[in-house]
Amino acid sequence: MTGDRGFGIDPEIIRQIAQEIKEVVSLRVEIAIVIGGGNIFRGLAASSKGMDRATADYMGMLATVLNALALQDALEKMEVHTRVQTAIEMREIAEPYIRRKAIRHLEKGRVVIFAAGTGNPFFTTDTTASLRAMEIGAEVILKATKVDGIYNLDPILHPEAEKYEELTYLDVLKRQIKVMDATAISLCMDHKIPIIVFSLKERGNIQRVVLGEKVGTEVRG
Ligand code: GTP
Repeated sequence: MTGDRGFGIDPEIIRQIAQEIKEVVSLRVEIAIVIGGGNIFRGLAASSKGMDRATADYMGMLATVLNALALQDALEKMEVHTRVQTAIEMREIAEPYIRRKAIRHLEKGRVVIFAAGTGNPFFTTDTTASLRAMEIGAEVILKATKVDGIYNLDPILHPEAEKYEELTYLDVLKRQIKVMDATAISLCMDHKIPIIVFSLKERGNIQRVVLGEKVGTEVRG
């Protein structure tokens, strides 16, 4: 969401993401989005500087609501129907998370944006994605990042790093690969939901992944 500004919401980045989502929706793919808030506030970083972890996490959850509303606005400007659901009730702003309603929205072709994480501190955006994926019966989790897959070393610091084409959930857990936290990976492992990690920097990648092209790294059983 941040773009090159390093902080905050960059309207151009949101517009690009919305455009990619619109292309996938036009293929009649049902798509739900779990959005983070790290471009506005990072709970973990704040707690490491002395803030109470639960309070910091609640602030992080509120940050995801800002991103959700910004993405909803961008999508609706492109005539993509959306519904935002929040895990912390704030009915004046958006509807609360109701699993069956989310599924109904998806069936009607609406993009559902899940905001405010799981509603609980100590749970990450990745864990929220795994939980919601299970709840709505998703076929796959697409994790869009800044890097085009999972590497054996941090590719930004180590140019010689090698990319994995595929990994098992256990590989990720055993080698402590920091692609998603262990809670999120374990949930996916228990419920056999594949995860595809890919870069959002390359135009058209969401569509490529959805159409089954080999993009990024796939984590499965
Ligand atoms: P259908 O029942 O399939 O027609 O779904 P719908 O979402 O169009 O129906 P509903 O009447 O529930 O919602 C109409 C609009 O109100 C949508 O934009 C919803 O996102 C919004 N909405 C629904 N419930 C809430 C809520 O509790 N709070 C807020 N702020 N908006 C809501």
